[in-house]
Amino acid sequence: MPKKSDPFTIDLFDDDIEINPNRIKLAEDAVVLRGYASAIAVDLIKSLDSILAHSPLRQMQTPNGYPMSVRTASCGALGWVSDAQGYRYERKDPLSKQSWPPMPQNFIELANNAAKEAGFNDFTPDSCLINGYLAGAKMSLHQDKNERDFSAPIVSVSLGLPAFFLFGGNARSERPQRHRLEHGDVVVWGGSSRMKFHGIEPLIDGIHQLLGRQRINLTFRKVI
Ligand code: SIN
Ligand code: FE2
Repeated sequence: MPKKSDPFTIDLFDDDIEINPNRIKLAEDAVVLRGYASAIAVDLIKSLDSILAHSPLRQMQTPNGYPMSVRTASCGALGWVSDAQGYRYERKDPLSKQSWPPMPQNFIELANNAAKEAGFNDFTPDSCLINGYLAGAKMSLHQDKNERDFSAPIVSVSLGLPAFFLFGGNARSERPQRHRLEHGDVVVWGGSSRMKFHGIEPLIDGIHQLLGRQRINLTFRKVI
């Protein structure tokens, strides 16, 4: 076994060295799992289609009255909404006036497994925000802070067209890292990274073989 002081060998067991190219450490408690959802993407999209048949993607208004460039929907016990009253979670879809569609088993399992892979055991999301991006749609730098439970991580799944993900610090002014996220990539951040600012650059137009001219992001949260 090589010693750490030996300058000619790399200690493969040193946690600080990221050797696996499918695992990109963004910060303490924050990681990109490249292609983690690729193998089940077709099934995820099938589940997504039945969710969106009940609660379609729609353009919500910001509290200041501007339309968001991203179209959103939710599944799970709670869904994220935005309107003149602010950002919050609601049990009913304001469009259908019914409960949000239940979270499908393949969504729950993926979120739970990805969280575990990133070091967060027993993640049981009660909300999945579905973000739909067409060319030009973006998400400005923000923190996910409408949840009551900050001890649970955020698990974010990218499907369809690639996008540039910005991952900043605990203050908006900190210059963010920029990573290209592709179909099947999963990002997990929690613990000491739970309140990091993050966002998505305006989507570049293209055609994805499964989802066409869009990017879909599934963001799993534990709200209560
Ligand atoms: C979000 O922060 O809610 C979305 C991030 C993404 O679309 O990747
Ligand atoms: Fe977010």
